Amino acid sequence: MTLYADTSKALTISDLLAMKNTGEKISCLTAYDASFAVLLDQAGIEVILVGDSLGMVIQGHASTIPVSNEDMTYHTRCVASARKRAFVVADLPFASYATPKSALKNAARLMQTGGAQMVKLEGAKFEVIEFLVAQGIPVCGHLGLLPQSVNRLGGYKVQGREPAHAQKILEDAIAIERAGAGMLILECVPSLLAAEITRNLGIPVIGIGAGPDCDGQVLVLYDMLNISIGNRPRFSKNFMANADNIADAIRRYHQAVKTLAFPAAEHCY
Ligand code: KIV
Repeated sequence: MTLYADTSKALTISDLLAMKNTGEKISCLTAYDASFAVLLDQAGIEVILVGDSLGMVIQGHASTIPVSNEDMTYHTRCVASARKRAFVVADLPFASYATPKSALKNAARLMQTGGAQMVKLEGAKFEVIEFLVAQGIPVCGHLGLLPQSVNRLGGYKVQGREPAHAQKILEDAIAIERAGAGMLILECVPSLLAAEITRNLGIPVIGIGAGPDCDGQVLVLYDMLNISIGNRPRFSKNFMANADNIADAIRRYHQAVKTLAFPAAEHCY
């Protein structure tokens, strides 16, 4: 099998789809600036997510809710201007995609000014996804734990443990693909549910706290480097523990995703 990790060409959504179809795991990390974008690129990470987790790890807020469109555009531009190979996905921040019209305005800014190749939005927003895709904007869905809804959910908790909720997440995932999304992030759901969703979808499914059977894995960079302000979530891992330096820790994460060494049972639900 040709490993995409061995190529130096800039990756597209078609490459990520080919990886799903050939069974090669996709490695993804968040980054918010040029220096880390270069380190991730050099380590072979295929997808860089400019996540609104920057509100917590960069800005020091208690949640992602205060992050603005300006913040996301600025950090996306920092990453996109430096990366050469990785596919860049950027988060639409809280309340910026309440209607198709506002989603289009904010997603277009992330792509035109920020340089994102795809935008990510949380929840079952089928109409918004369909509208953005019709305008030529690639969309990544995000289901399971939705950090922008932390106040409605009552905390950062595993989602989809009860059968009815698991079924709803599966149905939403299928509908998100039908609406035209090109990728899906599944956060903090039981491994069995994530495996079923991954089997049922034709688009790449990237998990965070969603078990080993997703098409790829993502972590918040500062969590896996063990430099986050708060506690590291159970589903994350300190890759600095045995590493010589930051670049080595990122390489170790990439290898662990490729070889299925990460996530291990202790990182799963
Ligand atoms: O903002 C972020 O970093 C994310 C990940 C948790 C997937 O959305």
